[in-house]
Amino acid sequence: MTRHFLRDDDLSQAEQTAILDLAEHIKADRWGRKPLAGPQTVAVIFDKSSTRTRVSFAVGIADLGGQPLIISTANSQLGGKESPSDTARVLERQVAAIVWRTYAQSGLVEMASGTTVPVINALSDEFHPCQLLADLLTIREHKGTLAGLTVTFLGDGADNMVHSYLLAGATAGMHVRVACPADYMPEERVVADADAIAVQTGGSVTIFTDALEAVSGADVVVTDTWVSMGKEDEKAARVASLSSYKVDGDLMALAKPDAIFLHCLPADRGYEVTSEVIDGPQSVIWDEAENRLHAQKALMVWLLENS
Ligand code: CP
Repeated sequence: MTRHFLRDDDLSQAEQTAILDLAEHIKADRWGRKPLAGPQTVAVIFDKSSTRTRVSFAVGIADLGGQPLIISTANSQLGGKESPSDTARVLERQVAAIVWRTYAQSGLVEMASGTTVPVINALSDEFHPCQLLADLLTIREHKGTLAGLTVTFLGDGADNMVHSYLLAGATAGMHVRVACPADYMPEERVVADADAIAVQTGGSVTIFTDALEAVSGADVVVTDTWVSMGKEDEKAARVASLSSYKVDGDLMALAKPDAIFLHCLPADRGYEVTSEVIDGPQSVIWDEAENRLHAQKALMVWLLENS
């Protein structure tokens, strides 16, 4: 059966751990695995702009012996002229895997249901699961473990990163806290799914409106832009609603003294986080950005071996 990675809970706790272990090995021996030797091609499709995802997939596919084919939707038939499932049936005859950054999660589901090669979600409006593999790898590197840690996300609770933290963090057995205003809450069905996972793994999921309470005693503090791609027109309203969730030095001081700070980038400095924090000693954002490469290489190796 072909395995896809469309949302974080497509992986069990054991599978998530196996991919993180593999990422650690691949990071230590960068050119040691060549499952795409040939070279086989991987299609990497972008409906939205990207720096980290584009570079890390292109470099990662080349590192694995393959050839990345970067496709912009604007210059392809996908996105109005041809359905995701028809596109998938064309691509599967020629490529080893499909990576897609898009808007609606439903497009990814349709793409995956129509193909025999692995489909990877490189960010949708609902989830950013590749980023979470990199974040978990980074947290594990700095903290030595994942299960039992408290991670607090502050800001836009309806953000794709929040949904991914809820599912991936619960899968890892973490205590996931989200601090957000009442009008920017996570999707209820994602919270319910994360709750159900946490019951199995010993983790927990808690939604707060009070930023100070949510960050108190946290091991990991996370935020993301308040203005996700496609929401640019809402910037003024979002800044007004989210300003009390800004991660600054005073808020960071409420977390544990050895807490680390993560941000998937790009950051809107002065809005969701101050330069004092993002450039400060607790910030691990550059490790996090590098780990996109190692985590996604491990994911591709694992999906190819298990499909
Ligand atoms: N974090 C992230 O996905 O970055 P890009 O939008 O630059 O790919």
